[in-house]
Amino acid sequence: MAKWKVTVVGAGNVGGTTAQRLAERNYADVVLVDIVEGLPQGKALDILESGPILGYDSNVTGANDYEETAGSDVVVITSGSPRKPGMSRDDLLKTNQNIVGSVTEEVVKHSPETILVVVANPLDAMCHVAMETSGFPRERVVGMAGILDTARYRTFIAEELGVSVRDVFALVLGGHGDTMVPLPSMATVGGVAITELLAEDRVEAIVDRTRQGGAEIVGLLQSGSAFYAPSAAAAEMVDAILLDQKRILPCAAYLQGEYGLNDLFVGVPVKLGASGIEDIVELGLNDEELGDLNDSADSVRELVQVLHG
Ligand code: NAI
Ligand code: 2OP
Repeated sequence: MAKWKVTVVGAGNVGGTTAQRLAERNYADVVLVDIVEGLPQGKALDILESGPILGYDSNVTGANDYEETAGSDVVVITSGSPRKPGMSRDDLLKTNQNIVGSVTEEVVKHSPETILVVVANPLDAMCHVAMETSGFPRERVVGMAGILDTARYRTFIAEELGVSVRDVFALVLGGHGDTMVPLPSMATVGGVAITELLAEDRVEAIVDRTRQGGAEIVGLLQSGSAFYAPSAAAAEMVDAILLDQKRILPCAAYLQGEYGLNDLFVGVPVKLGASGIEDIVELGLNDEELGDLNDSADSVRELVQVLHG
């Protein structure tokens, strides 16, 4: 038996791939839950049977209820509808509010001490649903979006400059929507600011493409949305928590005064470790960046008002 247990709720594209990535880590047993009968059991068995080939012993099981999830260290919530072409993240609001609410209720009954990693969209609003339903402190509810958006930003910068993504540092703050805030001032390649390496119009094009990163994949796939990079991002967060890595990662966190924002989930750099969100990092943003962050927070606030309406 592995040292830890991780539950992934939603055995669709993101959930199935996250379960696979976690099983391959070989540090936790994984329980995959979905409402569709056979789906989590089938995917779990398939992942389990990859163990002898890839050399991991993680136990992977599938279920349609929450008994087996009891005592999970981390629960990743991916259950929800994905975006379809032409559909905004916000269209998903009400459907996913019901799903994330009922799932959180069940999860918490069986794992009252767990840390929730929320993935379902609209991300920042679903973090509110998970926190309000669970009654957890803000340290134990964290949303996945900033790592994904930042990974897209880094990919495009690396591509433009012909360098390794490993040498690109960048940050995207704000809500996981069209108003997200990719920060050119904090993007560097080998320590040199991209604003010194690229013309202004190229930087703007990269920032725009980053903001549209999710829609670009939806448009190409025609059915469903991104899941390889999202699952990689979710697994990186689980690593940080289980292995107490104290990583500084952009995640959706419930702000209480930081960046001048209150009672709102917004993407900011956080220190992620065994206790969940152990600290919120406050960057020295310039006025324009702060203004953009506020605009992005406003769009999250609008959704939260709809949730409560
Ligand atoms: P998917 O449709 O492939 O999988 C969703 C799964 O949730 C389905 O298997 C469905 O049966 C299940 N489900 C629905 N209601 C449930 C319930 N009450 N209990 C348990 N399972 C339930 O969708 P995909 O691509 O896996 O995306 C999942 C969610 O993650 C979507 O809301 C999507 O928009 C979001 N997403 C968020 C990202 C982010 O950056 N935060 C990135 C990618 C996806
Ligand atoms: C994405 O950014 C759909 O939110 C999802 O790919």
